[in-house]
Amino acid sequence: MANILVTGGAGYIGSHTCVELFNANHDVVVFDNLSNSSIESLNRVQELTGKSLTFVEGDIRNSEQLDQVFALHKIDAVIHFAGLKAVGESQQLPLIYFDNNIAGSINLVNAMQRAEVFKLVFSSSATVYDEANISPLNEDMPTGMPSNNYGYTKLIVEQLLQKLSIADERWSIALLRYFNPVGAHKSGRIGEDPQGIPNNLMPYVTQVAVGRREKLAIFGHDYDTVDGTGVRDYIHVVDLANAHLCALNNRLQNIGCRAWNIGTGNGSSVLQVKNTFEQVNGVPVAFEFAPRREGDVATSFANNQRAMDELGWTANYTLEDMLKDSWHWQKQNPKGYGDI
Ligand code: NAD
Ligand code: WQD
Repeated sequence: MANILVTGGAGYIGSHTCVELFNANHDVVVFDNLSNSSIESLNRVQELTGKSLTFVEGDIRNSEQLDQVFALHKIDAVIHFAGLKAVGESQQLPLIYFDNNIAGSINLVNAMQRAEVFKLVFSSSATVYDEANISPLNEDMPTGMPSNNYGYTKLIVEQLLQKLSIADERWSIALLRYFNPVGAHKSGRIGEDPQGIPNNLMPYVTQVAVGRREKLAIFGHDYDTVDGTGVRDYIHVVDLANAHLCALNNRLQNIGCRAWNIGTGNGSSVLQVKNTFEQVNGVPVAFEFAPRREGDVATSFANNQRAMDELGWTANYTLEDMLKDSWHWQKQNPKGYGDI
């Protein structure tokens, strides 16, 4: 049992990870500025687990706020989700992304060092891989220059953390390279709640199904894939949350910095996702084909052997589970946390 600081813990992946941390009997302190989330997610985490967490409203770019958290709570390790993640916005507002994601992360590790906390799990992304790599992607493949500023911030933070752990052996850092997180907690009480028009496929599909959007635009149907639409490795958010617990256990016993892919190892096309969603949920999703989206690759899926071998992690949920759970959440909360 450990005391875990979860930055960005009110967000989509963070809130699901808090539930799994409580289920494993850890204590949780959430630090979040609520710039892309609602405090209601944390109320529901507590309702689901019957446990109470400490919430600190703060910004990872603020050293004083971070120092205060480490001074008030005896933190054993940090899971760092806080950051901005909208690819399109990162092209319009690069400095805001550099500031939140890169400067914020540097500020966090500085505060950790002052507090002598050296265990860190960082939310990275499969977007760090060079686009020339052929899937399945493994961790020894070269990283590249991501096509957008969001991806660039993830690559830079990975590299900074790698260099930090080489310079100072006290650090033990996990870089988790997520593929495409989807789904929601079985209860339908917590889930993904994007603000404005969703950038990602799954929330767009569920918002069409629930009647909030007219139709899904499928970006490209002339890719060299099974049916011409883009192929991705969708991973259930609860499987992803559990990967953080496995990484935490590994880091409590090891030093250095190491990357792990967190995906199922299976690729699904956009049409397969849409059709399976309709099948398992019995609800239609209107769609049209649209031009390719800039920066998209045809196919991306993981080789997840390293996470299975070294972290003892496996993905337990199928695509059908992911699509049922996403719909269960959306149906129960048509406007997300805005329904309360
Ligand atoms: P999210 O936006 O739901 O959660 C991020 C949380 O961080 C939010 O609660 C937000 O309020 C908070 N936050 C943002 N900037 C902050 C700051 N400066 N100080 C304090 N809190 C701040 O996103 P998510 O989908 O849960 O993603 C979590 C992490 O995983 C992010 O770092 C994201 O880049 C990374 N990631 C996400 C995906 C994905 O597809 N969802 C894929 C790969 C990596
Ligand atoms: C999936 C597939 C689209 C929306 C992005 C980020 C990555 C990570 C995860 C993190 C693609 C197609 C999508 C739509 C569509 N982000 N699509 N119509 O692009 O694999 O990854 O999210 O924080 O860094 O780049 O995910 O869900 O946007 O797209 O046809 O309205 O669905 O072209 O093939 P992507 P996605």
